[in-house]
Amino acid sequence: MFQSLQVVPRLISVVSISLWHTVIAVPAVVARACVSRAEAGVVVRRRARRLVVALGPAFVKGAQLLSSRRDVLPAAWCEALVDLHDRVPPMPVRVARRVLRSAYGGDPPVAVDWDSVRSGSIACVYRGELDGRAVALKVRRPRVRRLIEQDFAIMRAGAAVMQRLPWFRGLPAVAVLRQIGAAVAAQADFDAEAGALAELRASLADVDYLHIPRPLPEHSAQGVLVMEFVDGLAPLVTASTAPARRAELARRVLFCVYRMLFLDGLVHCDMHPGNLYLGRDGRIVLLDAGFVVRLEPRVRRLFAEFFMHMARGDGPHCAEILRDSAEGVAEWADVAAFRRGTIALIEESSGRAARDFSLVRFATRLFDLQRVNGLFAAPEFIFPLLALLVLEGRINELDEEVDFQAESIPVLTKAVMSGLLKTGSRERA
Ligand SMILES: Nc1ncnc2c1ncn2[C@@H]1O[C@H](COP(=O)(O)OP(=O)(O)O)[C@@H](O)[C@H]1O
Ligand SMILES: [Mg+2]
Repeated sequence: MFQSLQVVPRLISVVSISLWHTVIAVPAVVARACVSRAEAGVVVRRRARRLVVALGPAFVKGAQLLSSRRDVLPAAWCEALVDLHDRVPPMPVRVARRVLRSAYGGDPPVAVDWDSVRSGSIACVYRGELDGRAVALKVRRPRVRRLIEQDFAIMRAGAAVMQRLPWFRGLPAVAVLRQIGAAVAAQADFDAEAGALAELRASLADVDYLHIPRPLPEHSAQGVLVMEFVDGLAPLVTASTAPARRAELARRVLFCVYRMLFLDGLVHCDMHPGNLYLGRDGRIVLLDAGFVVRLEPRVRRLFAEFFMHMARGDGPHCAEILRDSAEGVAEWADVAAFRRGTIALIEESSGRAARDFSLVRFATRLFDLQRVNGLFAAPEFIFPLLALLVLEGRINELDEEVDFQAESIPVLTKAVMSGLLKTGSRERA
């Protein structure tokens, strides 16, 4: 109760910011609407982007996720929000200087090029020079952690009300928001991010087409992460990228993600275009280890087994895994109907190319099957699912023909051979 009261000022602020942006947008939208509907649409989208930025990091994160999914958000909206991937309005230079001075207790050891700024939801990143080499200086925006925690507390309160409605009963919305909120707020912890960068570099060191910048913790400070600067970052693909190269990049990105999900268990859940680039040397560059999650061995194993059986079109095994991993089963549950529904869904979805498969639709149908038939989904699967949701946006951009399920087989086979997975010998109850 006391905690809920603490978020009231933030709730008031979110509502007033939203109202203010709506009110000041009205005259411009009406004026443009008199000229053409399309013009009015442009203004609405521009204003919506400003509103998202004004609302703060949790909203920017949500918009980054949505705008990388052209199947969810109309193309014009994706275009309007694309700047939020790495060109969120930066904090004023004087604020960045202040953060640096207080972090280092004086001047920072790095000569900063203030014009080189790129910025995401959490931080602004500058090119700097340290002992004659180029470094990236990631400077945390003030108050991000508190804002994120408050915004997720508001969302949880909303979800708690929603979960009382009959249609939403059984959805683990509050638990899922608690987990995601904690992970997003943890992005403000730059010590953890430096550690995650180093761990990701180590676990994927053998993948020679992937480049993850090296952190320099010895030069970092509270709220400031210094790392290797990666020059010449470019979008993964452009209109002129040849189809064969697109297909190769799609397979490579998929391989990296499957490695993280099924073998290493250390997963980058935020592979939107502001964190995934092409380097000058042709390698894929993966940045921003703020949202890297370590999967519990059980979650990694069950997720991998589900994926393997799905790739094989083995619906009965998929249904078993879902039932065994469910958080709870209602007294009135109809497990047989759940099984039938899952088998039909897997049959439809197995062996599809990216073009003919939508993870959003698949997951929605699966959640529906669970809800209607009285199985309560386990919230910890949200992270691998989130990683794949963000990834799917990239894959659709790269090569819609790729059979992403088949691409998982080599990694899954390796996981089986390393004894990390069971193949098909789950005991049937
Ligand atoms: N090591 C780096 N070298 C070059 N540019 C970088 C580096 N790290 C980040 N950037 C740039 O800064 C942007 C924001 O950095 P990021 O770590 O993603 O911040 P946030 O956590 O706020 O999303 C990135 O989208 C990228 O353009
Ligand atoms: Mg980022």
